[in-house]
Amino acid sequence: MKTEVIKINDPKECQNELLHAADIIKSGGLVVMPTETVYGLGGNACLDSSAKKIYAAKGRPSDNPLIIHISDPHDAEKYAYTCDIYYKLANAFMPGPLTIVLKKKDIIPYSVTGGLDTVAIRCPQHPVANALIKYCGVPIAAPSANISGKPSPTCATHVIHDLDGKVDMIIDGGECDIGLESTIVSINDDGSLTLLRPGGITYDALMCVCEKIIIPESIEHSLKENERPLSPGMKYKHYAPSSPLILLDGTNEDVETFLKAEEKHEKIAIMCYDEEASLYKNALVLKIGAENDIESHAKTLFSYLRECDDHPEIQKIYAHLPSKDGLGLALYNRMIRAAAHTVKKL
Ligand code: TXA
Ligand code: MG
Repeated sequence: MKTEVIKINDPKECQNELLHAADIIKSGGLVVMPTETVYGLGGNACLDSSAKKIYAAKGRPSDNPLIIHISDPHDAEKYAYTCDIYYKLANAFMPGPLTIVLKKKDIIPYSVTGGLDTVAIRCPQHPVANALIKYCGVPIAAPSANISGKPSPTCATHVIHDLDGKVDMIIDGGECDIGLESTIVSINDDGSLTLLRPGGITYDALMCVCEKIIIPESIEHSLKENERPLSPGMKYKHYAPSSPLILLDGTNEDVETFLKAEEKHEKIAIMCYDEEASLYKNALVLKIGAENDIESHAKTLFSYLRECDDHPEIQKIYAHLPSKDGLGLALYNRMIRAAAHTVKKL
């Protein structure tokens, strides 16, 4: 298949291109779109055949459900059974990086939900994604636009690397703002939330509109043997770079001493704060932003994990163990999984 790549920054200036992209989706084709979190591999969420094409293009197991994307939070009514808490959350955080799991209506095929009776719904804030969904008139089912098991793509180059020749169109909308996937919550019968995946909408932000949030152990720890995951995606290994990633738990001084010794006898990559970059002379140094700039750490993570894969000589990748505060919980969740839970206490 020949993949068309088009650049769109301002949807108002590219209406014809977006209408063309919408036609592809409506007629069952696949279009990759930029969102504020990561790029999404989009297809018509009401078509069984589109869901199957998405799974095939990603190489994704078909029991791992897809998020459906709407352009107006009220559209959720058409595809799922909503409730007061949904609207409380929607008023506070939509459009934005929040996905809410609700009981699905029949119009959404089971192929989209991986056989579940629930559907995950998100209203993206990115102007290109939002305009594309509007033009489609149908929700867009979109997982992250990476080959299954690779880090989610945060720019069009990553998408082209993974999906060129496998989708009809890739819309290049530049770098994603957040760089980590959306927060996913489900709503329990007593009105509390369960956090299925931490993301751009933090625990503290959610607590401003609800009273109780359950954080499953699997957000921070690996699943126990035979433990059933609350979200099917949690059982799959994710974001793993080819060389092992090791998270360092210690003071900045401990980390510096350890890495200075390591870089002498092994070819290593170091994800470090900007302030530390000049300390290391023999390593591949990847600057993640200033020490207190957690947004930057989040935004650069997936790109750096991919970059490490381009350096087969690298034997190990080291990074600071992130804090779990605010957006840190999402970063911690992605990094601990990429590291297969390998933490070195210094
Ligand atoms: O930011 C995002 O959420 C991006 C952009 C493109 O919107 N999408 C994304 O999709 O990250 P994906 O497919 O890579 O991750 C969706 C996660 C999976 O782990 C899946 O198991 C979970 O959402 N999920 C989807 N539907 C679900 C449901 N009905 N119940 C529980 N978990 C669900
Ligand atoms: Mg994904």
